[in-house]
Amino acid sequence: MSRESEHPEPVVLLADVEKTFANGTTALNGVDLRISQGEFVSLLGASGSGKSTILRLIAALDDASAGEVHVFGTTPEQARRSGRLSYVFQDATLLPWASVRKNVGLPLSLAGRTRSEINAVVDHALELVGLADRDRDLPRHLSGGMRMRVSIARALTLDPSLLLLDEPFGALDEITRQDLQAEIKSIWQQTPGLTVVFVTHNVFEAAFLSTRVVALSSRPGRVVAEFENPAGSSNLGQIRGSAEYTEAVSRISAALERSTGKNAT
Ligand SMILES: Nc1ncnc2c1ncn2[C@@H]1O[C@H](COP(=O)(O)OP(=O)(O)O)[C@@H](O)[C@H]1O
Ligand SMILES: [Mg+2]
Repeated sequence: MSRESEHPEPVVLLADVEKTFANGTTALNGVDLRISQGEFVSLLGASGSGKSTILRLIAALDDASAGEVHVFGTTPEQARRSGRLSYVFQDATLLPWASVRKNVGLPLSLAGRTRSEINAVVDHALELVGLADRDRDLPRHLSGGMRMRVSIARALTLDPSLLLLDEPFGALDEITRQDLQAEIKSIWQQTPGLTVVFVTHNVFEAAFLSTRVVALSSRPGRVVAEFENPAGSSNLGQIRGSAEYTEAVSRISAALERSTGKNAT
């Protein structure tokens, strides 16, 4: 990872990207986005503005209709095959019949790692998300917040350089949501060089988490505002009480209002 920082090349680059689906819906038009190593970028926009579509293009889950998408300087497909990116979906998407340990270890099993290697990595990942003592539980025995922690732990097992999260906390209650925001933020802080792209339509979440905010227009999605968020680089415990945070909240709200004509929270 230290060698990458010598390269000026962005981790994610979208240039004049268009996405039109088979049914004729144009979800994205003229999207330019450049994300550097170590950034925590929030992609913000109203429902239907193309946030998930952008993540799916980065993760090689779908192809652009026009324009360029580069990830680590290669095609998204090459980046995905290299195992350097992980994706966390809005639903935890766990195997219901498999234990927490089995669910978290799945990507490593698929990659053919040895049992002892898998156990060591899974132990560490569960420790990171605060679930070290729940490894034998089945998903149905966990709360929604815990299931999302399992999903995040699973995404961390391949030691990704790029973590893509699509509204991962949208279904959680506010207290759990704030816990998990602090968790993901702390994981990012503890992992030098980790780049995060976080999709949300929540202004407060974006202000708390990200070092940079990218706001999209309503469909077809296009980047309409982009700015650094100093609050996102502060110490965890101090963010929500800081003047920078309050300022970020109003700045992000204003950007969204301009782009959608209404407040998206
Ligand atoms: N596979 C698809 N086929 C047709 N339209 C789609 C498809 N996926 C998404 N869309 C449409 O593209 C637009 C953007 O979708 P999406 O990226 O999911 O938005 P967001 O994540 O910001 O809510 C929406 O209008 C959605 O209905
Ligand atoms: Mg979406």
